[in-house]
Amino acid sequence: MTRPLVAGNWKMNGSRADAQALIAAIRADMQGLDAVDVAVCPSFVLLPVAAQALASSTIALGAQNVCDEDEGAYTGEVSGAMLRECGCRYVIVGHSERRSLYGESDELVARRFMAAKRHGLVPILCVGETLEQRDRGETETVVERQLAAVASAAGSDAFEAAVIAYEPVWAIGTGKTATPEQAQQVHAFIRDYVSRRGGEGVRILYGGSMKPANAADLLAMKDIDGGLIGGASLDADSFLAICRAAAQGA
Ligand code: 13P
Repeated sequence: MTRPLVAGNWKMNGSRADAQALIAAIRADMQGLDAVDVAVCPSFVLLPVAAQALASSTIALGAQNVCDEDEGAYTGEVSGAMLRECGCRYVIVGHSERRSLYGESDELVARRFMAAKRHGLVPILCVGETLEQRDRGETETVVERQLAAVASAAGSDAFEAAVIAYEPVWAIGTGKTATPEQAQQVHAFIRDYVSRRGGEGVRILYGGSMKPANAADLLAMKDIDGGLIGGASLDADSFLAICRAAAQGA
C-alpha cells in the first residue's frame, strides 16, 4: 500500500502571521496521522517563516515552482538550491495556473521538473484537462502529452521518486469535483503511463475542490494516493479532516 501524501497548495495567500497561525493550528492536531505524509506549500517569501514554524515537526515544506536554470540572470525566478536552503522537500511544477495564466509550456514544465530532481527536491507534477478538452473526449490525450514532455526530456527513469497530481482544470477553485470514478479512470491511465517509465511507486494525488465532504470517497479509489489541496488547505480543520480521510484509507 502506498503511503498517502496530502499537500496544501496555499497559492498566493496569507501573511507571515497567517502562515505561523495556520501551521501552529495544524501541528496542534496531528494525532492519528502517522500513516500519512503531510506537506504545506506556501509562497516563496513565506518559506522561511513556515520552515521556522515547522521546526521538528513531521510536516514537510514545499514550494510552488522552481527555476529550470541553476543560477544567474533569471529575474523573478527561484532556484532549486535556494529552495533546498529554505528547507523544502517538495516543489509543485506545471500547476495549471502557471500553464494557463503565465504561459508555461509543457517543455518549460519538463525543464523545471528536471531542475527539481537535480536539486534533490521531489517534484509534484500537475497535469489535467480543461472542461472543453474533457467535453471533446481529449482528457487522456492532454494528460499523455503533458506526461510525455517530461518523459522525453527526463529519460527512461523520468518519474522515479516523483509525485504526480491530477488536477482537472474545471475542478480547481470551482466547487466542482471530479467524481471518484472520473478521477480513478484518469489516475489509472497515469499509473500505467508512469509505471512504464520508472514510476512504479509514484504517488498520484487528486486536486480540484477536494474538501472534507468528498475526500473519503475520492481517497478510497485504488489509484488515488492523496490530495493536492487548494482552498481547503487554508483552514486547519478542513485540511486536517482531509488528512484524516487519507489516514483512514491507508
Ligand atoms: P482547490 O482545492 O481550491 O480547488 O485548488 C486545487 C489546486 O489547484 C491545488 O493545487
